[in-house]
Amino acid sequence: MTVWFGVDIGGTKIKTALVSDDGAVLHRHAFDTMASLGPSHACEQLARALHECATAAGISADTIEAVGVGIAGFVEGSTGVVVEAPNLAWRDVPLKSMLEQTLQRPVSIDNDANVAALGEAWQGAARGAKTVLCVTVGTGVGAGIVIGGQVHAGATGMAGEIGHIVVDRDRSLPCGCGKFGCLETRASATAIVRDAKLQQEAGALPASADIRGADDVFSLAREGFEAAKRVIADEADWLGYGLALCAMVLNPDAVVIGGGVSKSGALWLERVQDAFSRYAQPRTIAGVRMALAELGNDAGVVGAARLAALNVTHNR
Ligand code: BGC
Ligand code: NA
Ligand code: ZN
Repeated sequence: MTVWFGVDIGGTKIKTALVSDDGAVLHRHAFDTMASLGPSHACEQLARALHECATAAGISADTIEAVGVGIAGFVEGSTGVVVEAPNLAWRDVPLKSMLEQTLQRPVSIDNDANVAALGEAWQGAARGAKTVLCVTVGTGVGAGIVIGGQVHAGATGMAGEIGHIVVDRDRSLPCGCGKFGCLETRASATAIVRDAKLQQEAGALPASADIRGADDVFSLAREGFEAAKRVIADEADWLGYGLALCAMVLNPDAVVIGGGVSKSGALWLERVQDAFSRYAQPRTIAGVRMALAELGNDAGVVGAARLAALNVTHNR
């Protein structure tokens, strides 16, 4: 049995998993991104996680042939350098070479949304689709574009950075990337939490509510608080708008939505779909299938394992 170590470095959590050749997750391990205090510390934690996963799965670490990593940032495809990770404050980090040194194995690196797209195209909701837009909605907003089963990397590996399309020309809100008015300032978990807190300060949500993540805002909406419902509806509208722009460029047959916020379920998805249909030109999106990521939280680690496997086979 060949086993791969898949890593998903997000704005809030670092997820890892041992994944077998057929896509089965043998063991998972996660820790907070903040707790990792920067790239070198994250590398050490990943080395520990690799061994912990192997022990827990009852296999020798030697059977882990290679490592795949998806990270929430702009990754230069040719060098494996994380040029910028807006929500991690990492800049010009030679992550591939750092990890190869710490983990003593071949390491492949790509953007988190690209990697999740690879996972969904391999084992999930995008199986069989020809032109796929796979979107990740969490701390930030990103996308992977899969055409004919392969990730479309673009000239420098950074295709699909849709979270930083300026959708708000008044550019009212600052983004982690240094610009203002980016899609992710409106359509992310971060945006939901920020707006909910503003509502709370204005007295429209109970002062006693502990609003830390988008989940908390979804709970308040389920409890019937109108202000929470409005915040979510607004976010869904912006996301639908952003996806409509992308669909006009790509003419996809499938749009897959993953990331933390996508766990919030059917009602949120309906609102996104509704906005998508309102903003896109109807003929260009006729027949497009919009679905939630099937691999859910595992899309990143499974896709990362797939990335590692593809690269090892390619280099043999
Ligand atoms: C980053 C992307 C990433 C997305 C989702 C954005 O802020 O620029 O690279 O894919 O967040 O994590
Ligand atoms: Na991407
Ligand atoms: Zn931005």
